Amino acid sequence: MQIPKDLIEEALRSLSSVANESDFFKVRSQFLGKKSFIQLSFKELKNLDPEKKVLAAKELNLLRNQLNNIFRDFQENINFNSAVDIIDTSLPVQDSVSGAHPISKCTNKILEYFENLNFKTFYGNEIETDFYNFEALNFPKNHPARQMHDTFYVDTQSKDSYLLRTHTSNTQIHSMLEHAAPIYMLSPGRVYRCDSDTTHLPMFTQVEGLAVDVDISFADLKGILIDFLEFFFNKKMDIRFRPSYFPFTEPSAEVDIKFDSDWLEVLGCGMVHPNVLKNCNIDHHKFQGYAFGMGVERLAMLYYGVKDIRDFYSSNLEFLEQI
Ligand code: PHE
Repeated sequence: MQIPKDLIEEALRSLSSVANESDFFKVRSQFLGKKSFIQLSFKELKNLDPEKKVLAAKELNLLRNQLNNIFRDFQENINFNSAVDIIDTSLPVQDSVSGAHPISKCTNKILEYFENLNFKTFYGNEIETDFYNFEALNFPKNHPARQMHDTFYVDTQSKDSYLLRTHTSNTQIHSMLEHAAPIYMLSPGRVYRCDSDTTHLPMFTQVEGLAVDVDISFADLKGILIDFLEFFFNKKMDIRFRPSYFPFTEPSAEVDIKFDSDWLEVLGCGMVHPNVLKNCNIDHHKFQGYAFGMGVERLAMLYYGVKDIRDFYSSNLEFLEQI
């Protein structure tokens, strides 16, 4: 492999005629981009004999570091704006996009409904201990239901391992341990899971609800959720409660709504499991509770007719302006 001796001089020469930012990036890509001599040569290394490969790799690394330094120094020392961009102050002002993000709008609409029913909003922790995210919610260590939540752990070795919470249900435990029953709590916030496709994101938003009181039944839960969904979508809806499983509710259900001819899952819910009440020192003979957790992006996709969940976070103004 022939490494040209004057690559550095050539780069310096090209940089000396750079007049604006776009020229700079063109030159940088010519010397360091995918099709640059350096990158193509790295790809060719595999065809060399082992001894030659080591030498060539060393030389290429050195060259790449030098080029990186040259381009970094150049970029740090030049102020393209003052050099080339002339601001025409006579042009009309561009309309700026203002208003809340669609996910914030939907979250606010959810809060509005439940706050009117006297649920108190409570903001929880996004970095959480295993105890609040799993253990106290009746997911013992090694419980298979943890698998579905496989997530981002901060420190798996220590006894109090931290993780990015996988659901807002951690706030149920905080509020039950910190407040005496009766409790009517609502908690919006971000949650994290190892998931990524057109309908799932590794970070998304949930709103948790919890009611603990005497004489609370599944009928109360069903009634409030149906009424909420019809408020949210502003119309009568086909809604079904499908039996499901969560370690922290019993019985548990998933709620689906019919859109066109498909049933789409929008939230999980159930009656608070007696073990969870016990873990939070609440007398489970006297009090019952219901809980629910809804995915805000899912509701927003249905509300606005968005097909790809990633659109919400691509910072594409053309998309946001339509909403
Ligand atoms: N935490 C559950 C989830 O993220 C949803 C849920 C909340 C289910 C409260 C039941 C009760 O999937």
